[in-house]
Amino acid sequence: MLISDDTTTKSRKLRILVCVSGGGTNLQAIIDGIGDGRITNAEIVCVISNNKKNYALIRAEENGIPSLSISPKDYADREQFNQAFLDAVNGMQPDLIVLAGFLVVLPEEMTVQYRNRIINIHPSLIPSFCGKGYYGLKVHEKVLERGVKVTGATVHFVDEGTDTGPIILQKAVEVEDGDTPEILQKRVMEQAEWVILPEAIHMIANGKVAVEDGKCRRK
Ligand code: GAR
Repeated sequence: MLISDDTTTKSRKLRILVCVSGGGTNLQAIIDGIGDGRITNAEIVCVISNNKKNYALIRAEENGIPSLSISPKDYADREQFNQAFLDAVNGMQPDLIVLAGFLVVLPEEMTVQYRNRIINIHPSLIPSFCGKGYYGLKVHEKVLERGVKVTGATVHFVDEGTDTGPIILQKAVEVEDGDTPEILQKRVMEQAEWVILPEAIHMIANGKVAVEDGKCRRK
């Protein structure tokens, strides 16, 4: 299957929904990528946050992008949240959903409905340092604890597992003597995440990614 067949053949822009939980530097990388032409044929139609106050929402506002916040805490149970979240997502009719530091587990129904249309940025070279409990700074803490010399970032499609979907792009980053989790996190963001996330979106928006037998192939 070629991910953006429908959109490119109708020559309209890929409608991107970006989901965030934190500072939104990856959201900013997408905004910048669209602005400077590294990403073509795509537009961000909305930003969804699972909390009401974070810097990602300010970035959305500053760039004139509609946003909304929706949190499991606002609902009686997970089922109700999942339904409200899915309804909100469906209402935006996205072609591609980008998890840019989104720390909420997606409803399984959503991963099925949007098969090969949800991507995630993870701050390690999958399958190392990923899965349940590996997110944000914790990933870099574990990398330093283990003493590996090379880490990096991965953009992958999201399936029902945690960090198990088809890998689109990866980029390696050197671990240096004296690194703290914070220093390493910054280097991985600058050298890998903010590079490969826009690149992956550009590839998808221009019909350059196919998924076959659970693996991505460049077209
Ligand atoms: C990023 O480092 C991203 O890779 C990570 O959260 C951070 C969000 O930063 N995501 C995960 O750990 C997902 N497992 P940002 O809000 O500045 O983009």
